[in-house]
Amino acid sequence: MQLGIDDLAFATADRYLDLADLAPVHGVEVAKYTVGLGQDRMSVCAPDEDVVTLAAAAALPLVESLSEAELASVRTVLLATESGIDQSKSAGVYVHRLLGLPAASRVVELKQACYAGTSALQMALALVARNPEQKVLVICSDVARYDVGSSGEPTQGCGAVAMLITADPRLVAIEPVSGLHTTDVMDFWRPNYRTTAVVDGRLSLRAYTDSLTGAWQDLQAQGGPAFGDIDAFVYHQPFTKMAVKAHAHLTRVAGTARDAEVMDAQIADTLRYNREIGNSYTASMYIGLASLLDHAAADLAGARIGFFSYGSGSVGEFFTGVVQPGYREHLRAAAHRRLLDDRQRVSHAEYLEVIAPVNPVDGGEHPIEASTRSPFRLAGISGHQRVYERTAAADAAVA
Ligand code: CAA
Repeated sequence: MQLGIDDLAFATADRYLDLADLAPVHGVEVAKYTVGLGQDRMSVCAPDEDVVTLAAAAALPLVESLSEAELASVRTVLLATESGIDQSKSAGVYVHRLLGLPAASRVVELKQACYAGTSALQMALALVARNPEQKVLVICSDVARYDVGSSGEPTQGCGAVAMLITADPRLVAIEPVSGLHTTDVMDFWRPNYRTTAVVDGRLSLRAYTDSLTGAWQDLQAQGGPAFGDIDAFVYHQPFTKMAVKAHAHLTRVAGTARDAEVMDAQIADTLRYNREIGNSYTASMYIGLASLLDHAAADLAGARIGFFSYGSGSVGEFFTGVVQPGYREHLRAAAHRRLLDDRQRVSHAEYLEVIAPVNPVDGGEHPIEASTRSPFRLAGISGHQRVYERTAAADAAVA
């Protein structure tokens, strides 16, 4: 029996900052971002968007395409995030209500930096292996924020990916062998009292590639596929150039021939969406997968994909999956393209205004003006409670 990803959709904020508008503020040439980091734009959340609204927007098309009986078989929702909105309550419970999911289900939030989505995927596969009649909804949702003016600022972004994990999946069957690597390193973290991440940029690049080496070597020790048996590689993409650096690193570690054209073909299609979205932490690698499936000119049926998931701190996992015959009929490429093209460009001044944190701590009434055109919004904070609502855009999306 094959287990894996049956359906997949992503969402992002409906605004973006063009990095051409950030470069002069930092006093650098825009090529530092477009060439040096491989980023053109970054999605920017409005004050009434957060990981809950992004997660619900990503999962809406998946849920809407299920029959009532299929919906009843979704008995677990796993939401991975490193930019959660509560120390106790899972963001997934809000999402569960916004999507009208059945009460007979378990919902939890998982955290280990950008890696947690992959732990959710592996846990989902184990649950489906135990009962193949059940489906698990895995959602990865994050808002990447660094200090204004810091070197991390151009690598911000936000997004969510929803994946339905089932038996006999229509998109990608995940293979059972994984390579794992955990080590305690302070490359990137966010203490509870901060709204932006703390990062040692240089160390984080080294920690990422060290983790890739460790996870790859473990994959080989566990009997996983050789480098030459993998057709395409999807890496965690804090900025897309990182995937290019990672792939060059892996070819060295694996000791394979290094042909620039072949190496480019193995990763190029995975980078397209994230160039326009920026970092979405847990969601980033799976947006890379959507990018590959949506853009590949050749039919990828039967192709083996290698995935490297990295979460600072750090945990890395290298695993593989095989693209399923007929997968193209189940892609959401047109909707993904529309989502990115319909975003509104904001000026640098507007960007600074919308990212100002909304974090009242007095327990009073704090309505938030409606500004997002997304299907769900944060309507306010009232008596310490976050109040979410469905918008007219949700009905339009379903119609
Ligand atoms: N034209 C073309 N390229 C240029 C250029 C120009 N005018 N000016 C500079 N560049 C190139 C540089 O040569 C460099 O490329 P190489 O690394 O290939 O040499 C690239 O642009 C970036 O320049 P710098 O190294 O000088 O950039 P920086 O020090 O200002 O910041 C950074 C880079 C450290 C990655 C910073 O953006 C950062 O801290 N980002 C956040 C942390 C991060 O993303 N880490 C990644 C690994 S950790 C992880 O993956 C988890 C996660 O999601 C955060």
